[in-house]
Amino acid sequence: MCGIVGYIGKQKAAGIILEGLKRLEYRGYDSTGIAIWQDGHFAVAKKVGRVANLEPETAKHRFVGTCGMGHTRWATHGGVTDANAHPHVSSDGQIALIHNGVIENYSSMKKFLLDKGYTFKSETDTEVLCNLIAYHYAKEPESTDPDESRFVISVRKTLRHAEGTYGIVVMAADHPGELVTARKGSPLILGIGDGESLVASDVAAIVSRTQSVVYLKDGEIAHLKANTFSITTLTAGDVSPVIDKVTWSIADAELNGYAHFMEKEIFEQPLALENAMRGRFSEDGSTALFGGLNISANEFRGYDRFMFLACGTALHACMVTEHLIERFARVPVECDYASEFRYRNMPLFRNTLFFVMSQSGETIDTLGAMREAKRKGYKVLAINNVVGSTIAREADGGIYQHVGPEVGVASTKAFTSQLLIGAMLALYIGRMRDMSFSEGVEMVQALKRAPDLVRVALQQADHIRGIAQRYTQYRDMLFLGRLSLFPIALEGALKLKEISYIHAEGYPAAEMKHGPIALISEQCPSVFLVSSGEMFNKVVSSMQEIKARKGKVIAVCTESCKLPEGLADELIVIPECHEAVLPIVATIPVQLLSYYMAVELHRDVDKPRNLAKSVTVE
Ligand code: M6R
Repeated sequence: MCGIVGYIGKQKAAGIILEGLKRLEYRGYDSTGIAIWQDGHFAVAKKVGRVANLEPETAKHRFVGTCGMGHTRWATHGGVTDANAHPHVSSDGQIALIHNGVIENYSSMKKFLLDKGYTFKSETDTEVLCNLIAYHYAKEPESTDPDESRFVISVRKTLRHAEGTYGIVVMAADHPGELVTARKGSPLILGIGDGESLVASDVAAIVSRTQSVVYLKDGEIAHLKANTFSITTLTAGDVSPVIDKVTWSIADAELNGYAHFMEKEIFEQPLALENAMRGRFSEDGSTALFGGLNISANEFRGYDRFMFLACGTALHACMVTEHLIERFARVPVECDYASEFRYRNMPLFRNTLFFVMSQSGETIDTLGAMREAKRKGYKVLAINNVVGSTIAREADGGIYQHVGPEVGVASTKAFTSQLLIGAMLALYIGRMRDMSFSEGVEMVQALKRAPDLVRVALQQADHIRGIAQRYTQYRDMLFLGRLSLFPIALEGALKLKEISYIHAEGYPAAEMKHGPIALISEQCPSVFLVSSGEMFNKVVSSMQEIKARKGKVIAVCTESCKLPEGLADELIVIPECHEAVLPIVATIPVQLLSYYMAVELHRDVDKPRNLAKSVTVE
């Protein structure tokens, strides 16, 4: 949600910042802007739309300065206009600011500043924060400590009054060649390069220049110069920074010949699953191993109940995990929307272990739910993909997904790797309890075959593209499945909605007749997810109910399902597989169907309207 890049060094800053912004566009893409310090003032270009719209503007400015910052916006306060785009410059011209987050008490700050004669050009909370920094900057005498300059002090003083969330980068007119950056609730990463320093809201924006990074923590302020940096806290305490190494390179975040990141990430799934399971099975091949849980097997065995919290696609992965843990480990599991859990103050069982799932590790609702569970004294483990994310750092332990950067806004490879980790958890917990050695071995073998089964499912791509071409005229669709395939139906509907803008709903197949069946007509097709297990005949009955009402049926079936002749208008066959792997394999056709439908409709697949990859505001 909003992308931030700052650069200071020997090179011209504009090109580096624009390049970084392109890599961050998935975080927000309704407007973009850049500010460069040159010729004794802030040269600013801002434009509604994508980074591509900003490029001609930047060309007009002939930016040559070596210190600057840029922003891609996902609007919160104020509409999508050039004036509301960041960076904002204070009315006295002394401070420039970019911001990710929401300043909740901006109205009272604005009133205070208006009384002091400051003026505003935009409707944003950010411009208010910018002017409040300018107010403190104007009042503050210069200090003799180069790290504790008037610039740093004025940012710190301002942030002490700021309620809400922020990741900010600030430039000050009297401190050229310096950036001050601070965070509370919005991610920021410092890049420590050779004679240059960078800051960004995601590693993707800086990894082409350096793989040495510092993950800034909430309540910290960093002061960057080309060759040095220092970090302090909001209370002026010193921080000893830890420099980490990023383990992936820029090539991992490039299209490599695919039309879209979503397409690339769908086809990367066999490899992603291999990476997510690598080194995570016991030597005797009967259970899973996880290095970072920070909980002994004995302690784990002591929990009577597990609670999973997440949002969106990650919640669907939790729902499958619930099914698998209850099925294979016989321990009660509950899932909840992180955003609801956080506020509904549900009575909790004492002996419960919490899990939060989040690809980005920055989703504010999930982070808030995790903090709430911790506040109540519960241990929380995180399953997430982005190394060093806030959720990963604040959790008591966890499991990284290890699938590399996911750039497409619609989550694909992160989802199937969450399903895999959920299945491995079911195995791990099951083997601590009633699951036999031979059942464990059978499940490990099945999980190891998952990448190949996904490869087989991907071979249906051309067939699914053909189906997609025949279904783009519909405005509503249902996705139906049972047991572990019900969350996949939810996920199929979410994927279709978010990238094609076709209205879709997911339901347990039998639930369809309790209301949604009213939607069924020739104009509303249904996608059924069917396996050959105990539910087969019941799902076939649901299909017949749809056909009786002239609804079209797209059936995603495992190989051995024998559907009555003529029941399905379209058939997509997936390989037969173990129950723990079935949700992973069944996901592939629904991802491909939504992807190809969106492409047919000429949608902006990687950057669907109104969405952002990681939602860091409530
Ligand atoms: O980064 P997270 O996994 O916490 O994100 C959660 C949701 O915002 C995310 O899954 C969202 O639903 C995606 N757009 C799904 O494609």
